[in-house]
Amino acid sequence: MSLPVAQRLVRIPPYPFREVAMLKAKLVKEGKRVLDFGIGDPDLPTPRFVIDALCAAANDPTTHPYDESGYGIPEYKQAIAAFSKQRFGIDIEPEGEVQGCIGSKEALAHIIWAYTDPGDIVLVPDPAYSVYKVQTMWCGGAAFPMPLDPQSGFLPDFDAIPLSVRKQAKLLFLNYPNNPTGAVASKEFLAEAVEFARKWGMIICHDAAYCEVGYDGFQPPSILEIDGAKDVCIEFHSLSKTFNMTGWRVAWAMGGKEIVDALSRVKSNVDSGTFMAIQRAGIAALENYAEWAPKMRAQYQERRDALVSGLRTLGWPVDPPKATFYVWTPVADGYTSMEFSKALLEEAGVLTIAGTAYGEYGEGFVRWSLTIQAPDKMGTIQEAVEAIKSKLNLTWA
Ligand SMILES: Cc1ncc(COP(=O)(O)O)c(C=O)c1O
Repeated sequence: MSLPVAQRLVRIPPYPFREVAMLKAKLVKEGKRVLDFGIGDPDLPTPRFVIDALCAAANDPTTHPYDESGYGIPEYKQAIAAFSKQRFGIDIEPEGEVQGCIGSKEALAHIIWAYTDPGDIVLVPDPAYSVYKVQTMWCGGAAFPMPLDPQSGFLPDFDAIPLSVRKQAKLLFLNYPNNPTGAVASKEFLAEAVEFARKWGMIICHDAAYCEVGYDGFQPPSILEIDGAKDVCIEFHSLSKTFNMTGWRVAWAMGGKEIVDALSRVKSNVDSGTFMAIQRAGIAALENYAEWAPKMRAQYQERRDALVSGLRTLGWPVDPPKATFYVWTPVADGYTSMEFSKALLEEAGVLTIAGTAYGEYGEGFVRWSLTIQAPDKMGTIQEAVEAIKSKLNLTWA
């Protein structure tokens, strides 16, 4: 029997990375060598101290039932509060201002379900992680794009949002450090955003998944460092990228009590929390952050520097990102984003993601991920630069 799927599913484009994974698999099957700078998924294993903590916790049967609190076990929330104090200098109440999440992706989706009625407006950056827009559509809301362009440092221009849209918007999504552009936001910009949200009566959902991947000593701020931010903000953090834990599905949201509680009410009707043994492993991760994070950053920084300087030898005008493991590069003359990423893949065997996979304002760019799955990371970068040089004749205006 073939039953048609819901219209809500028909209306959305396929999840971009599923397509990329399928294309890569096809090329590999055909015997082609693919230098993969596509999906942003850390290539190194989860640290040993996290794995050991999981094994110990999984051997304790008290971790096996449902986590009935719904918000996360008290020790996990306390570890988050201690981390937030140490890292951002902010006071977070473990009971009430924190919600444990099964990865930040689900929480970003569910906060939209908590606040968006049909017809409501959600302000969404473009280009952006696709979840904000797709989930808004699923709720019957309208995603209003805030273009991120290079002239404004890939920050949205709040003044450009029409008055009628400001009045109707319920949520404002921000994501700094930013995927896909690698841009960062200053505290001044975050303060401006908080002021804007307060003035127009909306909630800021700040996606801080890449907050710990900063370079050259730069430590990206939390929006909750801004005075009074808890009244209008919820921020989403994840252990995925910081500790090479993407598959573990462990993250958290924190912010004002009322907003956190709204998220929790949705989640309690959809999921039953993260396996408690994984939450305990999450505690071990956070407790070892100070020792681990510099090593993680140094590894990506070395790759960033090699890729940026390699591409520059081709005459490519590339800016090194201050954070994230993404490099956002302009396409060569005469190509659209899609044509260019296709040419890189088909001619040089280099897999990047077309900027338009993140929205129409991603046109003119391709994204490189520094999470390189091949065993020889630096060799792969060099090979990619050489392949592009020998196979393609590129110019940039
Ligand atoms: C901007 C952004 N936010 C959130 C996520 C989700 O991360 P996770 O669900 O693993 O915490 C990702 C994953 O790639 C991302 O790029």
